[in-house]
Amino acid sequence: MNNSIFEKINQLREKLNKLNYKYYVLAESEVSDFEFDSLLNELIKLEKEHPELITPDSPTQRVGSDLTKIFNPIEHKVPMLSLTNTYSEEELRAFDSRVRSGLEGEERIEYVVELKIDGVSASIHYQNGFLIQAATRGDGKVGEEITNNIRTIKSIPLSVKEKRSFEVRGEIFMALADFKKLNEERKANGEKIFANPRNSSAGTLKLQNPKEVAKRPLDIYTYYILSHELRLRSQNESLNYLSKLGFKINPNYELCSNIEDVINYCRKWEINRDSLPYEIDGVVIKVNIFAQQNRLGSIAKSPRWATSFKFKAKQAITKLNKVTWQVGRTGAITPVAELEPIELAGSIISRATLHNADEIERKDIRENDFVKIEKGGDVIPKVVEVDLLQRQPNSVALNIPTICPDCKSQLVRLENEVALYCVNEECPAQIKGKLIHFASRGAMDIEGLGEAIINLFVDKGYLKSFADIYNLSKYEDELKSLEGFGAKSIDNIFASIEKSKSQPFHKVLFALGIRYVGAGVARKLANAFETIYNIKNATSEIIEEVDEIGPSISNSLVQYFSRNENNKLIEQLIEKGLNFVAELPKSNNQNLIGLSFVVTGSLSEITRDEAKEKIIASGGKFMSSLSKKTDYLLAGENAGSKLEKAKELGVKIISEEEFNGMLNK
Ligand code: IVH
Repeated sequence: MNNSIFEKINQLREKLNKLNYKYYVLAESEVSDFEFDSLLNELIKLEKEHPELITPDSPTQRVGSDLTKIFNPIEHKVPMLSLTNTYSEEELRAFDSRVRSGLEGEERIEYVVELKIDGVSASIHYQNGFLIQAATRGDGKVGEEITNNIRTIKSIPLSVKEKRSFEVRGEIFMALADFKKLNEERKANGEKIFANPRNSSAGTLKLQNPKEVAKRPLDIYTYYILSHELRLRSQNESLNYLSKLGFKINPNYELCSNIEDVINYCRKWEINRDSLPYEIDGVVIKVNIFAQQNRLGSIAKSPRWATSFKFKAKQAITKLNKVTWQVGRTGAITPVAELEPIELAGSIISRATLHNADEIERKDIRENDFVKIEKGGDVIPKVVEVDLLQRQPNSVALNIPTICPDCKSQLVRLENEVALYCVNEECPAQIKGKLIHFASRGAMDIEGLGEAIINLFVDKGYLKSFADIYNLSKYEDELKSLEGFGAKSIDNIFASIEKSKSQPFHKVLFALGIRYVGAGVARKLANAFETIYNIKNATSEIIEEVDEIGPSISNSLVQYFSRNENNKLIEQLIEKGLNFVAELPKSNNQNLIGLSFVVTGSLSEITRDEAKEKIIASGGKFMSSLSKKTDYLLAGENAGSKLEKAKELGVKIISEEEFNGMLNK
């Protein structure tokens, strides 16, 4: 090996690492971008000529070539705890009292106060000084591996001078200016914009391709180091040590000797939060001395030695230009405030929810009013109140609509409900909303069939009901010739429609969009009743026997199944092969596999619905109408037209007895 090349490479690396550190951790630039790039290119060239000299911590190795295919689960050996929240001085004092009584007899209690960065926490492991693994927090016990993505963050050292093993934790975030720039680019490219910097950090860390991550300006503030090899005594010392190792720590932390100082720090930053180039949502208060932290311990998932002080939601005043009324999938009409765009908590707000007509009347909200809006966390902003001093003299109270803004049918107000409803089954806005829900991730999970495409397909007349989704292939040629659709994208949609047929029963039940039947309730119902027919045949009393299911849910279900259209729809979906039975069929035998049945007339031993269940449970296919492809018509007493039709089509007709014989063969 050529010694001088080895040395040259090392020199370049050292120089580049130092410049990186200065630029990304200390925010000082010593050289121009051009000079930096020249040095980096020189190193790249040398490493290309001598690949045997490449080390994983070389500044050229931040972006590996490997795509992260899946994010492996990583168990946190020391759980990543969360913090209890405080919202007032009183609560901070109460926290201090609890700490004092927990540390009975200790005179000196100091707190380290840090800014609570609004980002995503991560854990990063180093072995013998080298970054070897990184993970998200996950549920605190198990997170997801994000090593390749973390390596792209320039303020995180790939190796440190001290060849020790340790774990570092910190908050990954995106500075406000970078967040805005990213959103502008996304908007220009027609991509969905992120609601806030935290979402954009989380979204970026979840990207599959580290090269894409490297293009996004993520940053970190570290606040924790854990090692058996170190003898750190306090949070204060830890922060200094992290900084000494080359990690980026937030410089605004302070050591407070009493709770009054803590309160003052919180007040100061609540007022000054907007002066920072990144988002904070509060202050974290930690007992400084580790021995004291250990004595206090933790309860459930939160330490007793720390808490967070959460800032109040940010508010802003802006003009309400117009109120629009939106039709949801249940037909509920929701008023939305269209606002003069205004910046609030790092994002531009142009709409806010007004909940319902009552709320508008109660707050006397009018068009052209100036309104105070508020945003707490990541929830949709809401209108808090009207600034009456700025109201125009000619202002008039809002007209509450009486007809549906989409289909123009008369709106109704249901008993005991605040919302107005459009009850027209054919209302296109409702149909679209229902289909969007049906195809969504948590329901049938039909990839490619998103909002825009559903809206288009409804407008073009291809889709009206859930069952139509499973008949879409009949329009294959037309769909493939639609502007903006390639044959491939349509084929992909068909493939995901096919795949959706294997969604489990509880997801199908959720997808139906029955009022009050959310994902969790659907799961409970599926577990308790196992088949759609059992739910359909249950009275509201029986349904309410299921844990945590009350009258609104049971009544909604009874009402749903009392409607013919709904039952017809379910039959159609069963015919298409969707799962309406929980788990796999219970029947030991699969005697009816490959055979299709239609049932008619009244059976003597079982109901028609039970017959259907038996058919499905034994692997057969249940159909509601006869065709040449039908294998058997199971005919009971008083069978009508279906019996005639079966004879015409040459479909084999069987009695209940024969059917039982087939089942128990
Ligand atoms: S300490 C038990 N320090 O806030 C110690 N957390 O619920 C918990 N955060 O998950 C973490 N800035 O994502 C700590 N200076 C800071 C922080 C901070 C932001 C986040 C972190 C954590 C959450 C607390």
